[in-house]
Amino acid sequence: MNRSLLSLLVLSLVSCRAESPTQPQPSATASAVPTVAATTAPSSVPVVVTASATAKPIEAPVRDNIKGGQDFDKWVAEGFKPDDAKTKGKADGTGGPNKDGTLLSQDGKPVLNDGHDYRLKNLFGWDLRGKAGIYGPDMMNKSYVVDLNLLERKDSEADLAAWLKSGTKNVPAFGSVMSDAQLADMAAFIVGVRDRKLVHPADVFELKKGSPANYVLRPGGNADTGKALYKERCASCHGEDGTTFLFDDKEFSLGTHARQKAYEDWLKILNGQPRTAMGRQLKGDNKQMTQELLDLFAALCDRKAFPKGPAKGKDVPDADPRCGKYLR
Ligand code: HEC
Repeated sequence: MNRSLLSLLVLSLVSCRAESPTQPQPSATASAVPTVAATTAPSSVPVVVTASATAKPIEAPVRDNIKGGQDFDKWVAEGFKPDDAKTKGKADGTGGPNKDGTLLSQDGKPVLNDGHDYRLKNLFGWDLRGKAGIYGPDMMNKSYVVDLNLLERKDSEADLAAWLKSGTKNVPAFGSVMSDAQLADMAAFIVGVRDRKLVHPADVFELKKGSPANYVLRPGGNADTGKALYKERCASCHGEDGTTFLFDDKEFSLGTHARQKAYEDWLKILNGQPRTAMGRQLKGDNKQMTQELLDLFAALCDRKAFPKGPAKGKDVPDADPRCGKYLR
């Protein structure tokens, strides 16, 4: 359907309806175009503001799920320094609704920082499952993880953004430190992961109680393909062998980190590292992105190709289960 014909057809509409800003509009297809007799617009019809032959449908903003994923990992807000987790019972940060580095609960009471630093990746875990996931009592047992599994819920993006804004029984209200657009981006990221539009963590690693770090990588990755991908997408910044940057106070090289914390790195590679030059490193649809991640992890499980270098921490021993058969 070409645009001008579409514009002519939608001219016959007597009413325009506002579209939800969180729903990117599908491009109109023949079946979605109303007949001349139509009096109300089906929701898939683009909004037209002026009745001129050149009128273009207004596209609802497409949410930025990369930005949303980075905010899920670590958001920042001007002037906000979280309440210090070490000083228990005292609100001693800066900024936020009470100007003391706390956020408020749904009923307006300050939520103190008990180690989560108000990061969503802490409240829900790197796998977005809350208590049911990698930070839950059966796994890493983080005190601050909330009993709410983002991958099981059925919320629309709009509902999710709304309750992240106002808070719930368990989750502080983020509306005081993040804009509606930021929250909508974050909701798009969460729903994208949940509905397998991006990458679902269950397709990359399996939770495994009792295993070191409580996970094992899924099979299906190809180390040779992964090494080629690494050369193409990562080596220019991280170096041929992944030792240019060391992480966590120089404890880890990229290789030793990926062999021990793939439950975290899957999200870093999907979204990039907040406030650095590293953006999303995966391409294509859910299937391609998932395969690329498995291939990259298969490659990074090679201890010779991606050594520890000058990192202070230990590498994994032979037969460490996290890399499974990928370990070299
Ligand atoms: C444009 C440069 C750039 C590219 C390309 C890039 N990265 Fe990064 N990456 C960075 C920077 C900078 C950091 C943050 C380093 C730091 O924290 O000191 C980082 C951080 C990371 C981290 C986070 C580690 C941690 O503990 O926080 C992972 C994992 C990672 N990169 C993997 C990759 C992989 C895999 C690729 C390729 C698929 C890649 N990166 C491509 C620049 C890049």
